[in-house]
Amino acid sequence: MSSSVLIKNKIKSFNKKIFVSADKSLSIRWALLAAQATGKSRAYNLLESEDVNVALKALKKLGIKINKTKKFCEINGRGLNSFLIKKNTTINAGNSGTFSRIILGVLAKSDKTVKLIGDKSLSRRDFSRVIDPLRLFGINIKSNKNKLPIEILGSKFLRPINYFENKRSAQCKSCVMFAALNTPGITKIKAKKSRDHTENFFKTLKLPIKIKKEKKFDFIEIIGQKNYKGFNYNIPSDISSSAFFIALTLLSEDSKILIKNVNINKSRTGIIDILNKMNAKIKFKNKKIYKGEKIADIFVRSCRNLKSINCPSELNSRAIDEFLIIFLVASKAKGVSYFRNLSELNQKESPRLKVATKILRMMGVKIISTNKDIKIYGNPNLNLNKSYVIKNFMKDHRVFMMSCIAALSLGGKWKIYDKDSIKTSFPKFLSLIKSLGGKIN
Ligand code: S3P
Repeated sequence: MSSSVLIKNKIKSFNKKIFVSADKSLSIRWALLAAQATGKSRAYNLLESEDVNVALKALKKLGIKINKTKKFCEINGRGLNSFLIKKNTTINAGNSGTFSRIILGVLAKSDKTVKLIGDKSLSRRDFSRVIDPLRLFGINIKSNKNKLPIEILGSKFLRPINYFENKRSAQCKSCVMFAALNTPGITKIKAKKSRDHTENFFKTLKLPIKIKKEKKFDFIEIIGQKNYKGFNYNIPSDISSSAFFIALTLLSEDSKILIKNVNINKSRTGIIDILNKMNAKIKFKNKKIYKGEKIADIFVRSCRNLKSINCPSELNSRAIDEFLIIFLVASKAKGVSYFRNLSELNQKESPRLKVATKILRMMGVKIISTNKDIKIYGNPNLNLNKSYVIKNFMKDHRVFMMSCIAALSLGGKWKIYDKDSIKTSFPKFLSLIKSLGGKIN
């Protein structure tokens, strides 16, 4: 079993300003777009993590030159459909759902077969959601019953598609958008609401894209095969990483935190809306707009009177990666909280609805859950004093971090396995916790 941490004490009150790691969604998208631009692109503050490294390593295998310095990452793009693919190329996507889904769209026109593999967690995840639309473009794909390993061979004769994205998945939407980049004609997408970073990048690059936003759906049209120039990008911090510090502050005594320069794109701020409905009073400061993305500092104080929520399902996709930590906060809120239509959570790095149910029950919280809904009986006096062991079989980074926050804010003696999982998204998580005074061995 891999490395574990021991937490035996609650964190003492803190008042700090922190920078969390860079946004993972933006980092991966920037790399994939830079590789297909003509000329050099630079990213400042690119996320240093395994999920981003697998993307950079894969691009190098596809013939792209990448130069990383302390200050920036520079990618020498070769233009659309210009990868240099060797025979028998295998790309290892590691743990990354985002990279593995989107790269399949990027390879829409590959002239040699590329094999895509991943770790144990990624290999249990569903790929029919991207395989089906990609086949409609005319791309050749073989899979292991819609799971990895996948072999993809692009087509010279791609045809544009009309696609209905109905899972609220930005990964699926983005995979199709990247395939559309290489496809002649107009690809039309009707998509349920999900994060819109790919759209913002396309607009920033002045690619031919039309977007009509209606209440429930976004309608996107992309004209493909238009080359674009290399571009520089400053990646802001990730709200999904901030989420753990937001929860830690809310649940700790007499504490305050200012999380600097975070991407607060509306499609990502479901956690703030949910927690504020629970009385959290989280504030944004110094708001600005950068290349279509909203950025701000997030200010949070401890909250003694959290109340339960009947969470509207419309908020689900805007908080999709944050539910583990939201469930933890609901466990200490007054009243019964309901969260519904969350079957997608079981499609993540681990079956998160099941895992959350198990961990919270272990903590003595009353939970009623199915494979899509969860009802949490909150207890404002929740204080833990037993011993807890978190095995984290799928090495899910967010399960590890949520367990650390539970230990630091609620007490008890915790042994939490798979510390290495944080390398995928938030390698400096533990050092930041220590900088707030958290004791972790
Ligand atoms: C992501 C989209 C979400 C999210 C993932 C990152 C992205 O997945 O869970 O961590 O960058 O597009 P889905 O689109 O599958 O919901």
